[in-house]
Amino acid sequence: MSQALDEIKIGGLGASRKRVEDNRFIRGKGTYLDDIVLPGMLHMEILRSPLAHARIRSIDTSKAWEIPGVRLVLTGEMLASRNLAWMPTLSYDTQAVLATDKVRFQGQEVAAVIADDPYIAKDACEAIVVDYEPLPVIVNPTQALAEDAPVIRDDKENQHDNVVFEWQVGDKEATDRAFEQADVISTLDLHYPRSHPSPIECCGSIADFNRATQKLTVYLTTQAPHIIRAAVALVAELPEHMIRIIAPDIGGGFGNKVPVYPGYVVSILASILLERPVKWIEDKTGNLISTGFGRDIYLHGEMALRKDGKILAVRMHTTSDHGAFYSDAQPSKFRIGLLHSAFSCYDIPVAYLHNRGVYTNKAPGGVAYRCSFRVTEAMYFQERMMHAAANDLGMDQAEFRRINLVRDDDFPHRTAFGFLTDSGQYVKCLDKALEAIGYEDFLKQKEEAKKQGRLLGIGISTMTEPLGAGNSREFDILGIKMFDSAELRVHITGRALLRTGAKTQGQGHETTWAQIVAHELGIPAEDVVVEEGDTDTAPFGMGTYASRSTPVAGAAVAMAARKVRAKARKLAAHLLEVSEEDLEWELGRFYVRSAPERGVSIQEAAAAAYSNMPDGLEPGLEAVAYYDPPNMTWPFAAYVVTVEVDPKTGVWDVLRVVAVDDCGVRINPMIVEGQIMGGLTEAFAKASMQYITFDAEGNCIGSNYMDYLLPTAWETPGFELHEVVTPSPHHPFGAKGVGECATVGGPAAFVNAVLDAIKDTGVRNIDMPLLPHRVYEALTERHDVSGAPPVRMD
Ligand code: CDP
Repeated sequence: MSQALDEIKIGGLGASRKRVEDNRFIRGKGTYLDDIVLPGMLHMEILRSPLAHARIRSIDTSKAWEIPGVRLVLTGEMLASRNLAWMPTLSYDTQAVLATDKVRFQGQEVAAVIADDPYIAKDACEAIVVDYEPLPVIVNPTQALAEDAPVIRDDKENQHDNVVFEWQVGDKEATDRAFEQADVISTLDLHYPRSHPSPIECCGSIADFNRATQKLTVYLTTQAPHIIRAAVALVAELPEHMIRIIAPDIGGGFGNKVPVYPGYVVSILASILLERPVKWIEDKTGNLISTGFGRDIYLHGEMALRKDGKILAVRMHTTSDHGAFYSDAQPSKFRIGLLHSAFSCYDIPVAYLHNRGVYTNKAPGGVAYRCSFRVTEAMYFQERMMHAAANDLGMDQAEFRRINLVRDDDFPHRTAFGFLTDSGQYVKCLDKALEAIGYEDFLKQKEEAKKQGRLLGIGISTMTEPLGAGNSREFDILGIKMFDSAELRVHITGRALLRTGAKTQGQGHETTWAQIVAHELGIPAEDVVVEEGDTDTAPFGMGTYASRSTPVAGAAVAMAARKVRAKARKLAAHLLEVSEEDLEWELGRFYVRSAPERGVSIQEAAAAAYSNMPDGLEPGLEAVAYYDPPNMTWPFAAYVVTVEVDPKTGVWDVLRVVAVDDCGVRINPMIVEGQIMGGLTEAFAKASMQYITFDAEGNCIGSNYMDYLLPTAWETPGFELHEVVTPSPHHPFGAKGVGECATVGGPAAFVNAVLDAIKDTGVRNIDMPLLPHRVYEALTERHDVSGAPPVRMD
């Protein structure tokens, strides 16, 4: 007689449970960094460079010191005297904390003032006089690679040019040989422009050094508290156990809150010097011009094709613009992140990718903006190249993809760049998307519309991406292996406290992690409270970015719950006076195999753990699990977009957007759909309107929300969502990551749709954003339109 609980009713896997964290967020009761006020707290403001490249002749801080309420004025020179003017980055480069010799990008940190209130600190910053000697400015790789280009990083001993690194992967010779066999070679040049994650909350910190206890507590807007603790230990030379990082509620991260920023470091130093809490929080312009940009990669792609549509090989030459300091956070083995995950969903025998990273006079770039270390660029290049190649072959876009997609029975499949994809139903997803959009009908409508002078277009983007770094064999940041963790403590009443090494920034972990516990133990999700972000209480983890939480921390939650269940089984056996082997498990209850009506609920077992344990069994019911995934999870998505372009203006309207996502088992379908809609909104923004660039002097154009546009509900099209479920073969409950899929795969679908609408012009590429004037230029002048000068790719 089964008494199993109804999993959906207790908020387990598959329940579209409302987000518990929204209870405080929608009431304005969240605790963000700027809400925290500590006794005796001082305020810090940073003086930033107005110039993109200049020698600092002198800095006069005397007027700032004279302002009442100013407690400390710090310059690079003062930090240098303590060997703290430079810090290591997460990619083994160095970055100036406060500039000493030169400034190398507009917005670089030059000095800091700590005062009684933020207004005094701001006024005092304005009283600092910096004498700059302007230097020639480099704003793109073409300039950076010119023979006579000034060396931006002349602070580095062996740096004689502006090349950060060269990196290659794949089989060059075999790829060259495959190109010799090609019937058609398709080529494409494009630029994925620089973009900014622009979370609504800016970056900030409150450092609180207590001289009496020698303990440093830092409240920090960070997606990765434990990595930051390691970095602070390195820079401030404090022992790790005396550093506590607390990430409170985070108002959006999107990769922007992974790096270590100079502001964090200076506030810590100031607190140590003044023995008072010091708060620093950026304003919006500071955030937009100086913190973690994403993308900014140039591609020259080539595809070797057989006439029947089979892809024989792919060659990619890429150049990435990292700004003045190489501070991307990415696994140290992969210098340009996972750019080589491109083409993973297609069966391509050989491929070769070469990347050259360059320094320019721009803020550091390359953060994994809602992206697994450059997979966004990878999938954009892939799907734009697929679009161009299908046109070159004169083939239907869907059919060309269908011919080359990896088949269901080909898994596990080794990609041309060496990844192992393990599961998926790629053609099924594509076909579902095509059916939903009414592909064949739309193609007919398009032809009819053409006769009336109307331009309709359809764009497809299909992709799989690696989500869930580790495994620890291949993935590390600064030598720290990439795994994650969970600690589950079940109280005497059967309620539970769960802590993980991840850190939610709006993804809803407080809701979904509890659902995993409900699924594994039958404890109702509402009885599980989730805490993240405090390094003194949470087990060590690598944090939340690259959609790794569900694949890694989520898996750790399940493993910790299973350990708890194993102990609860011993307690149940004791209570029922049978041996463990005689027990069966159903959701929330152990029962005797031969007498199913005799059972013990998980709550009864929990009570026994504290009040009636058998002799020799350790009291308590809790477990910690560290999870090192055997492989990445490989979600798949098919996005199809239809548009109409106005031939008189170049304005384009989205008609429909269909998304079919396969992220394996969905913990919370509503949250997954929210993630996909958010991702598609960002994809639409990138494709249509969002543009952050730099003028010839290195001034950041797009340093405010009047210029750098975030789409509102008004501009954003509706999205039609569908699902396919192919469980991950190795994840404990079959889930795959999903948070970034639509941001990664979406942009190409929009761009391909517009290019399809103007296909008759022969235009192969318009760089994002496809602003009306660019589309109009392409339409009327019939040439490709780029937002950046071409780059030498030799
Ligand atoms: O690392 P991040 O949280 O940004 O990304 P994720 O692991 O893809 O998860 C984003 C949100 O979607 C989390 O709340 C997950 O628990 C949820 N999710 C889900 O419900 N089912 C999945 N198969 C994947 C994610």
